Amino acid sequence: MTSVEGKVVVITGASSGLGEATAKLLAERGASVMLGARREENLQRIVSEIEDDGGAASYRVTDVTNKDQVENLVGGAVDEFGRIDVLVNNAGLMPLSTLSSWTSGSRWWMSTSRASCTASPQRSRG
Ligand SMILES: NC(=O)c1ccc[n+]([C@@H]2O[C@H](COP(=O)([O-])OP(=O)(O)OC[C@H]3O[C@@H](n4cnc5c(N)ncnc54)[C@H](OP(=O)(O)O)[C@@H]3O)[C@@H](O)[C@H]2O)c1
Repeated sequence: MTSVEGKVVVITGASSGLGEATAKLLAERGASVMLGARREENLQRIVSEIEDDGGAASYRVTDVTNKDQVENLVGGAVDEFGRIDVLVNNAGLMPLSTLSSWTSGSRWWMSTSRASCTASPQRSRG
């Protein structure tokens, strides 16, 4: 496996769950991680925990459905770490529902689709 040491990794949906775990693992292995999500208190806590363990991390409050905030996240990574090597496009929702109660216009379906589909790599640069 190729080493992640020295890589700059942007992770969306990094305030909990798989994104948080990915950020911590990559930072532990020497990557610089830029975290994006909406819950700032979680992002602050995770960055502190990574830094306390000797890692390099920063965050930008980011709703991936907001183009300006995504650009701020990407720009923040370039400003703080010099470039972007990897984008982990993890932000999303995973609500559970029975098939019998599912409708294509339901609110959770729409929000899941928006978060998952609008956060595309087209906004990355560098
Ligand atoms: N866990 C599984 O078994 C599983 C299986 C298949 C796929 N997935 C996918 O893997 C990803 C992570 O899942 P998880 O289990 O770790 O869920 P999770 O703990 O709920 O994490 C979802 C993350 O996405 C963020 N997020 C949601 N909407 C966002 C938005 N509009 N803008 C920015 N960030 C947003 C949340 O942060 P904020 O609320 O702070 O913004 C949170 O950090 C999701 O895309 C999910 O669909 C998970």
